[in-house]
Amino acid sequence: MTGEGAPSPCTGVAARSATRGGARGPGLRPGLRLELGGALAPPLAAGAGVSRGELAEPLRALEGLLPSLLAEGAPSGFLRVLRRRALYRALGASVARWRRRRVDDLVHIGIGGSALGAELLLRALAHPLHNALPARRRRGPRVHFVDNVDPERLAALLEELDPARTLVHVVSKSGSTVETAAGWQVVRGAFERRAPRLRWRDHAVFTAGRGALRELGERLGVEVLEFPEDVGGRFSALTASGLFTPAVAGVDVAAAVAGARALLARLEKLPAAENPALVSAALIQALAGKGRNVQVLMPYADALEPLARWYVQLAAESLGKRRGDRGVGVTPLPARGTTDQHSQVQLFVEGPEDKLVTFVRVERGGSLPIPGGDLAGYLAGVDLGALLRAEQQGTEVALARAGRPSTAWVLPRLAAAPLGALIVALELQVAAQASLLGVNAYDQPGVEAGKVAAFALLGRRGYEDEAAGIAASAPPRWTL
Ligand code: PA5
Repeated sequence: MTGEGAPSPCTGVAARSATRGGARGPGLRPGLRLELGGALAPPLAAGAGVSRGELAEPLRALEGLLPSLLAEGAPSGFLRVLRRRALYRALGASVARWRRRRVDDLVHIGIGGSALGAELLLRALAHPLHNALPARRRRGPRVHFVDNVDPERLAALLEELDPARTLVHVVSKSGSTVETAAGWQVVRGAFERRAPRLRWRDHAVFTAGRGALRELGERLGVEVLEFPEDVGGRFSALTASGLFTPAVAGVDVAAAVAGARALLARLEKLPAAENPALVSAALIQALAGKGRNVQVLMPYADALEPLARWYVQLAAESLGKRRGDRGVGVTPLPARGTTDQHSQVQLFVEGPEDKLVTFVRVERGGSLPIPGGDLAGYLAGVDLGALLRAEQQGTEVALARAGRPSTAWVLPRLAAAPLGALIVALELQVAAQASLLGVNAYDQPGVEAGKVAAFALLGRRGYEDEAAGIAASAPPRWTL
């Protein structure tokens, strides 16, 4: 952050010119890098970018955050859990047992933080056509996520599944999430109708906290994996909640955890001003203070599209909070390069000046030569991967020219270790943003009101007063 294109004094944090592709920082093991050059003022105007001086105070405030998150009694155990070797050994043994059973299909039932981490790891690290491959070319069962209560899709899925050849993984920390309970009960009912002698201990695994799901698992004799009590759903990607499903499907999740641990070990030795997660948090919040309170996360890789959805939930539910008499939080917006260059980028470059665009780039991604042809002669001999990278840089340049800030997380390659490192870096960044905002990252009181209203509308016992309140305050109908 010393100026345009100059390497930052920050290990792993590179100030890279958005327009000239300047110098790169030395990087953090396992190779994760954060580039900040596109958000610096100058060259951006003071209202559009941040200067090193503006980051000094928030970074001072964040100095003690990492040690406090690693200490006993921390408000969340999302970092400490990485050190619970026995927990990961037990998970590894369970995965090995289930992989030996060689089922055809794995149905993951969970929602929010109990689904998005697993989906992110699976889609980023499994074969891009995992479910479509023939069994001999797949490294594990096909995977289906049931994270909504849309009857159309679930009914269609159930028609295709053979209960005898299917494993069901139900994930719920609370055990009381209505969508997850409904999904499980529908799947259970359908399987038991078709295979009355099915023993659930041979066809299900639960990942549960202390609640009702654990009790049910114990009653059914189903293996119950630990959902750590001190880790919230959206911070649980690197626990059984996010790891079991991709691991059974053949993803090397141990390498993702190793990558996260390696990053954490490195970050522990760095002051806040050299810690990319904390610098990123300080920068996002500094920009939010200048009215740039929308953060776009824009990976340039199809496999990382679920990463953007996972991040949206992590940031939205952790940071969108009431503080005193007003609401705070940076609005996360998912996008995908290059597809959204033909959709949202127009808005990012010329629309309201309220956004920071954060790219996620894979340095050594896939390669596919484009042969010469009759539609775009200039593409002859160009690699599709080079085109993808050029388009990302082009968007960075366009933003910079329009005076719009951007940053980039750079993965050396699309592999488990750097991805695990990125997950933990983004979790720490969000925790640090919450600390700067003075809100609790680990609760979600705003989600409760909608749940209670839905229970009342379903006629659930105990919610009669709520139902009466809804009926009394129903908004006027305006139907066209
Ligand atoms: O991040 C969170 O805490 C939430 O998104 C939860 O993951 C989600 O509501 C599901 O909760 P549970 O795991 O209790 O079913």
